[in-house]
Order: sequence, then C-alpha cells, then structure tokens
Amino acid sequence: MQQMRFYYKTLQDFTADLEKFDLDVPVDTDLSVLQTPVLVGTKTIPNRLSIQPMEGCDALEDGSPGELTFRRYERFARGGAGLIWFEATAASAAGRGKPSQLYLHDDNVDNFARLVEQTRQAGVENTGKAPYLVLQLTHAGRYGDGKIIAVHEPELDRRAGVDPQKPVITDDELRNLEDDFVKATRLALAAGFDAVDIKACHRYLISELLGAHNRPGEYGGSYENRTRWLKNVITKIKDAKIDIEITTRLNAYDAIPHPYGWGSDSEGGIDLAEPKRLVQELVDLGLNMINITIATPYLTPHLSRPYDQPGRNGYPQPEHPLIGVARIMNVVKEIQKTVPGCTIVGTGFSWLRQIAPYVAAGMVNEGCASICGFGRGGFAYPDFAKDIFTTGEMSPKKVCISCSKCSELKGAAWLTGCVVRDSEVYAPIYQRFLKETAGR
Ligand SMILES: Cc1cc2nc3c(=O)[nH]c(=O)nc-3n(C[C@H](O)[C@H](O)[C@H](O)COP(=O)(O)O)c2cc1C
Repeated sequence: MQQMRFYYKTLQDFTADLEKFDLDVPVDTDLSVLQTPVLVGTKTIPNRLSIQPMEGCDALEDGSPGELTFRRYERFARGGAGLIWFEATAASAAGRGKPSQLYLHDDNVDNFARLVEQTRQAGVENTGKAPYLVLQLTHAGRYGDGKIIAVHEPELDRRAGVDPQKPVITDDELRNLEDDFVKATRLALAAGFDAVDIKACHRYLISELLGAHNRPGEYGGSYENRTRWLKNVITKIKDAKIDIEITTRLNAYDAIPHPYGWGSDSEGGIDLAEPKRLVQELVDLGLNMINITIATPYLTPHLSRPYDQPGRNGYPQPEHPLIGVARIMNVVKEIQKTVPGCTIVGTGFSWLRQIAPYVAAGMVNEGCASICGFGRGGFAYPDFAKDIFTTGEMSPKKVCISCSKCSELKGAAWLTGCVVRDSEVYAPIYQRFLKETAGR
C-alpha cells in the first residue's frame, strides 16, 4: 500500500513520486538562486528564503512580546532567512484572538521596537545582513473571544460555537476597524518594521469578508463590496503617507463551497478568477509583495499545511500529502504568473523536509514564486537558510517532521514551538499540556 507520509531518501525517490502522481512541481538542484536578493519597494530582501508567520502564544498580558517571543525571533534572525514575517498581531483590543496573542498599541510600541532592534541586530551579527521584517496585523474575527463575525457560514459557525443568530459586525464598525489598522500601521513604522501585512487569510475577519456573498451592505455581496475593506485600508494608509511598505497575506482560495467561500467553486474546489483580479488590483494600488496561502486550519488543515501526523484532535490525511503540497505550489504559481512583477511569497514547503531547497529553487527559477516561506519548518529548523547557503543542503536530522504537535499547542493557546527539535523548551510544555488536557 502507498505510504501516506514522507519517505524519500533521495531526490530521485521524490521525482519518481511526482511522476507517479502526475504532479507538476518544479525541482532544481542548483540552489544558487536562493541566495539572490529581491528589491521590494525601496528596500532589499537579502535572499529568497522566508520565515512564515507562526504564532507562539507567548505574549505578555498587555500584548507585548514575552521572553519566548524574543527568543523565537532571535533564532529566526540568526538562521539567515532574508525575510521574517512576524506572527499575527492584533491591531485592536477587540480583534485579539486570545490573551497570549501579540497586540500592538500606543503603550507597548517601545517593546515591539526592542523586538525589532534585537531581531535585526541578531541577523546582522550572524549573517552580515539585516533581514527584512514584516508585521502581520490581524483581527481574529470568529476565532477571538468575542467571536466577531462578518457573515454566517453554517459549518464554521458550528465548529467555532457561534450562535447562528448572532448579529454580524456592522458596516460602521468595519469602517472604524479600517482606522484601527491605519493606526496600527503607524505604530508598526514607529517600532521599526519594514512592512505591514494586512492579514486576509485563513478565515479570520478580513478573509471572511472576501467570501461574504450573503452579507448585505457596503462590505458584502458583489466582488467590489467584498474586497472593499482591504482596498480601503491600503488606500487610507497610502493617503496618510505612512512611510512603510504594505503587503497582505492573502488566501488564494478558502476551500469552502460558494456562496460562502472565496476563490472556491460550488464544490469547494479552486476558482482563482476573483483572487487573480484582486492581486492585480492590489498591485495597481501599489503593493510590491503578497504572501499567498490557502484554506483554513480550522476546517481543512490538510490543505493549508500537509502533515504526516494529524495531532490528537485532527484527522488522518485524506490524500497523499505530496498532492496537497503540489496544490499549494500550483496556486502560488498561478498567482505569480498573474502578477509577474510582484514579489510573491510561496508557502507549504515544510512537509518536504530536506527536499524543500530543491523545490524552492525550482519555484524561483521557473518564475512560480519569488520567495519561499517556511512555517513549521521555521519552528523546527530556524537556521535552515544558513545550512542551505553554507552546506548546500538541509539536514534530515533537523527538519520538521509534520507531527502537528505545534498545531495542537497553538489550537489550545499553550506556549507554542517545536516539541521535537526544540525539545528542551517545548517538550516539557507539551507533556504538561497532555496531562492537563487528557480526555478533552
Ligand atoms: C503553530 C502555528 C502557528 C501559525 N501562526 C500563523 C500566523 O500567525 N499567521 C499566519 O498567517 N499563519 C500562521 N500559521 C500558518 C503558517 O504560517 C503556514 O502557512 C503553514 O504552517 C503552512 O506552511 P508550512 O508547511 O511551512 O508549515 C501557523 C501555523 C501553525 C502550525
């Protein structure tokens, strides 16, 4: 029987499976392209590898970065990835997902400035170059304590415990939220970030708006209305002349059937017509970089982060994970080909373990992505970039094994990191987590 997990000893084993499954995933053994810089706006990203945003659930009560937050970003910076995409950070008190989520506001901007300075310095000291730093600004929407929703979707409502009769956030509140994001952008600039990400993925509030076909008013129904909020914020930031690069982490498709999803057909399959239109419009609005992701970890985690093990409350892979990886790569390629002049950050590399550098080089060389981002792989192996650049490979002993333990911890808002490869810190936390949540 076909093994539904990573089992490749050689690149040849891997390419044989690509052929067997008839998958179009570019592979290149010349990794030199990964060391080339990319100009984004007025600043340069020193290489083609990125840390994707990964919540560590370790903020202080006031939303400031905690001790483990500082540790995480220092490790990322020492590891040599040219782009560090900081994790989901609330732009408003009501949009904070949980008390352990970062939240940037007037009273703690200095603490974020310290985090930026330490991260940048660690990069310069260890690699000679400052990494490019993006802050992801979010509103957790239905996944925050207030369960604020933009539109009802029966299955997501049921799973998130949202009352189907609960009133949705009003148009006035959404307009005010635009201003909250502008304000948070100003603070991000003051803290020293190079860019802000207006997060529009994974069915948090802003991503939910993109699929709000059934919402009345200014922010729902037509394509123009559903994309209005995101475009308004970008325009407001530009009009305010805040001197910071603007980007977005965007779902290319939700995998939620029409009329509830975005980029999805009536079966929940891929229909990129609207996402392609949107990325073109975002580029026209002045965006130079977009980070592409898919689906929602709350409904279809196997699509957004293919895994070998589902974790305690997860489900086994319904397809070979390589098919999932190829799907992400293909969607990223489609978007990059739509806006060839825009820096597209691709995702979904972690399941590939030590094969990842060859796929990353293939993606960049064939114009399918500009930068390749690692999420779980960043937790497990923060110095993957340095190893690729100095030894020409990633060590099989250091790679993420997609065991989903980090996802389990994050799902329960426990301190989150790699239980397997960063075990000194996170194995005891995971043991405690198992003990205290047994039977739940
Ligand atoms: C523990 C955990 C935390 C995450 N936090 C964020 C986040 O803050 N923002 C975000 O856009 N995606 C987040 N993600 C998704 C990852 O950035 C990434 O898209 C996903 O893990 C797939 O990439 P990978 O295969 O390299 O892990 C998170 C994923 C995990 C497992």
